[in-house]
Amino acid sequence: MVTRRIVLINSLGIVASTFFHLNPSAKENNIHLLKAMASKTNLLEDPSALTNVWAYDGMVPGPIIRTKKGEEITIEFINLLDQPTSIHWHGIRIDNAMDGVSHLTQQPVKPGESFTYRFTPPDAGSYWYHPHNRSWEQLARGLYGALIVEGDESEPNVRDYTIIADDWRLENDGSLHEASLGAMHDWSHAGRLGNILTLNGKPYERLNVPSNERVRLRFINTANARIMRFAIDGLDNWLVALDGQAVPPTLLGKEGVMLAPAQRADLIVDVKGDPGEEFAIVETSGEENLVAGYLVCDEINSPEQSFSDKPIPLRSNKISEPHLKSAQVLELAMSGGAMRFLSSGMYRGEKYDGRELATKHKQVWSFNGVSGMSEEPFFKTNRGETIELKLINETAWPHSIHLHGHHFRILSRRIRGKEAPKLLPEYEIQSWRDTVLLERDEIVKIAFVADNPGKWMLHCHMLEHQASGMGTWFEVI
Ligand code: C2O
Ligand code: CU
Repeated sequence: MVTRRIVLINSLGIVASTFFHLNPSAKENNIHLLKAMASKTNLLEDPSALTNVWAYDGMVPGPIIRTKKGEEITIEFINLLDQPTSIHWHGIRIDNAMDGVSHLTQQPVKPGESFTYRFTPPDAGSYWYHPHNRSWEQLARGLYGALIVEGDESEPNVRDYTIIADDWRLENDGSLHEASLGAMHDWSHAGRLGNILTLNGKPYERLNVPSNERVRLRFINTANARIMRFAIDGLDNWLVALDGQAVPPTLLGKEGVMLAPAQRADLIVDVKGDPGEEFAIVETSGEENLVAGYLVCDEINSPEQSFSDKPIPLRSNKISEPHLKSAQVLELAMSGGAMRFLSSGMYRGEKYDGRELATKHKQVWSFNGVSGMSEEPFFKTNRGETIELKLINETAWPHSIHLHGHHFRILSRRIRGKEAPKLLPEYEIQSWRDTVLLERDEIVKIAFVADNPGKWMLHCHMLEHQASGMGTWFEVI
């Protein structure tokens, strides 16, 4: 569980140095400059406790990049780290060459080098960006940021706020627990879990919101491995989008919305409070709710607005509906990990016994008996075909499975050994996801139209699992 000793408010940010300046026309042309660099930030209540991080533009989280659906965006990226990196635009149905996957869609960007990412997001919604090279280390050190694509708003005057949740493994003095980066125990169990939770890089985020207004909150889980749940205490929480895509507005219970690593959820809340009043942002997955931050009602009371009781659904993006009758049906069996270690498996075209895989190659998980990225894709398909994928979690751990370049429908869920499928909530049936959580022994069927040409990854977004075996790819021709 994430714990904290004392309650103290701290909103100290850090100042990023600016090495480069863009000419004034850059903004108009939707050109952004982004630098990955070493920096220091304050993540604990004690303002003198600083953490060495790697961060975009020196800030944790990185700058919020806002753009519009259907408009081209350019990001001039410069790597000022001393390690190669790349940027993946998570959840965007992007041109394959811009997907940012090191060694699959591009060579990693070497220290001191730059790369131009240019794409036109086809969908509005809440997305994010992060490295796709040694992700388990680079995200744990602070490299991530929000990518917001406007164009799905259905109600005027609804302001939106981004809330990025991450857990950090820190020492008491604020220093990052570096000794455990890459620890096999984490890799073969639940992944790297932190002991400190931050929202927007702060120990107690305080978001100033207008009192008596309807606001949209965009939650993003950027943690390496932690599954979290969020709600705003004392207000009605309406779920309106998952992974960037609209769902029918659904009133959530007190426990709020669950976010596996990499997932996003947009909530609408009506901030019915007087100026100065606060509503806690609570993390509800533990036995006791953890207060992670606050919505603080602004002193300036906005003119009373009258809203419908129920939020109006967001405008949906156009994603092709899978044709299940003609689908290519495939299975992906996930095995290994602590308690059910692999007895043997393939790695880079060679067969090994499980012990060798673990000790020589740090591989402890597999997809269909293969650990890590293979030469040949998991499958090839022609553009426009429907793929129905049966994900089978044979491990004793939950996994957050992410599909690149596409969004999918969830068809069914059941537990291994049980015939009866689970009853899915309506919002899940209606959702388009790019990341799905499977609990231990769960079987989840998903389907999507493979309509985006290129080489796409399919991997566990518990980044230690990805690094130790749970990653494959497919090709759309
Ligand atoms: Cu968010 Cu392959 O990643
Ligand atoms: Cu996993």
